[in-house]
Amino acid sequence: MLVAKDFGDDFLWGVATAATQIEGAANTYGRGASIWDTFSKRNGKTKGGRTPEIACDFYHRYAADIALVKTLGFKVFRFSISWSRILPLGKGVINPEGIQFYHHVIDECLRQDIVPYVTLYHWDLPEALAKNGGWMAFSINADFNAFVSLCAKTYGDKVKNWIVINEPFGFTSLGYMLGIHAPGESGVTNFFAAAKHTAIAQADGGRILRAEIPNASIGTTFSCSEIIPYTQSASDLLASKRVDCLMNRLFIEPTLGMGFPTAGWDVLEKFAVSHSLWRYTERMTFDFDYIGLQNYFPLVIKYNAFIPVIQAWEVKAKNRKKPHTSMGWEINADSFYHIIKQFAAYPKVKNIMITENGAAFKDKLVAGHVHDEERIAYFKLYLAAVLKAKNEGVNITGYMAWTLMDNFEWAEGYDARFGLVYTDFKTQERTIKDSGLWWQQFLTK
Ligand code: BGC
Repeated sequence: MLVAKDFGDDFLWGVATAATQIEGAANTYGRGASIWDTFSKRNGKTKGGRTPEIACDFYHRYAADIALVKTLGFKVFRFSISWSRILPLGKGVINPEGIQFYHHVIDECLRQDIVPYVTLYHWDLPEALAKNGGWMAFSINADFNAFVSLCAKTYGDKVKNWIVINEPFGFTSLGYMLGIHAPGESGVTNFFAAAKHTAIAQADGGRILRAEIPNASIGTTFSCSEIIPYTQSASDLLASKRVDCLMNRLFIEPTLGMGFPTAGWDVLEKFAVSHSLWRYTERMTFDFDYIGLQNYFPLVIKYNAFIPVIQAWEVKAKNRKKPHTSMGWEINADSFYHIIKQFAAYPKVKNIMITENGAAFKDKLVAGHVHDEERIAYFKLYLAAVLKAKNEGVNITGYMAWTLMDNFEWAEGYDARFGLVYTDFKTQERTIKDSGLWWQQFLTK
């Protein structure tokens, strides 16, 4: 049987959240709009037209929610700072109420002996900056750096654990290439411009935190997915390599000083030439104390000539008759183990934390209980994969479950429930799911 002690006494166990997904109080207390406030109001952009305006009302309930983190037995609470809550226009005038709010959240964590892990950017760009091109514009780097500096100076004496950016590939691909997340931009040119500025921002952010905060532990996160070729044909293998470049390698390699992974794919080579990327290799490099890995699914990839640029196509879990979550994401803990090993193989990756991992299922609250056995089974499998990699010598120092409570799941609105705690979005009542109780037992035994 899996027990928490097998991971070692120093292993950090946490739950992760993000500002837009839980806070609410979107238009009050001096907060400026973020791209998710405006995007979610556009017709058809989120399921049911739902917005993050109220979300889990964490803004008013943070003390009780941090108490829940504690009740479940976790030591770490990961949350993010809403940029437009402290800088309503993204730069310039500071909102004192916003600054105060995060002081309260941090103080409450410390009071309850919970270690705060603070993410600086979890996808919620101030709308005012999006109007100037957002991540596609060169000016974003100076604005982001000023925001990081403000956070470091304001909270650096209390917060020692930082995450610069949440999943650069996630928000640049969904928000600037495919247009299905905020700010809803699309096309390869926009994506590459955003990717370049994001790669610079993650390293710049690391440097600013390092300069401002003594004894800080500084990380940044990457989404990762094992890419599995559908067949061993040369075309499927090459298509898989392209997807791996894009989804797994694009953002970590510049950080490690390797530049963008351009060799072998003409599209990326052209991008490098047109943006003179060689000039930024050094600036995109930063020696992070830990690398945050976030995994939700593997991808099975088949060559497809009709798909522009990438010429690859995902063969969905459902069509392969594989077990999957309510998001259609394949449940495959071996692939989690494989992708951890892939990232651990970079010589410069010295310390890995799993900063997100979890699953959405169609949970039902019945007579005060949520019997989510599928989620318990999921965590057991995925934790065993972490332990296997750890026992083989991979330096994994922590694991954060996604997520504390059901929340605003971006374009999915409130339909996809990932929480260990069930949120009734009408009453804001929280109910610990069976999976939450399982974690409690696992961590406190
Ligand atoms: C994001 C979370 C999101 C989760 C599930 C991750 O990519 O960081 O914000 O809720 O995936 O979709």
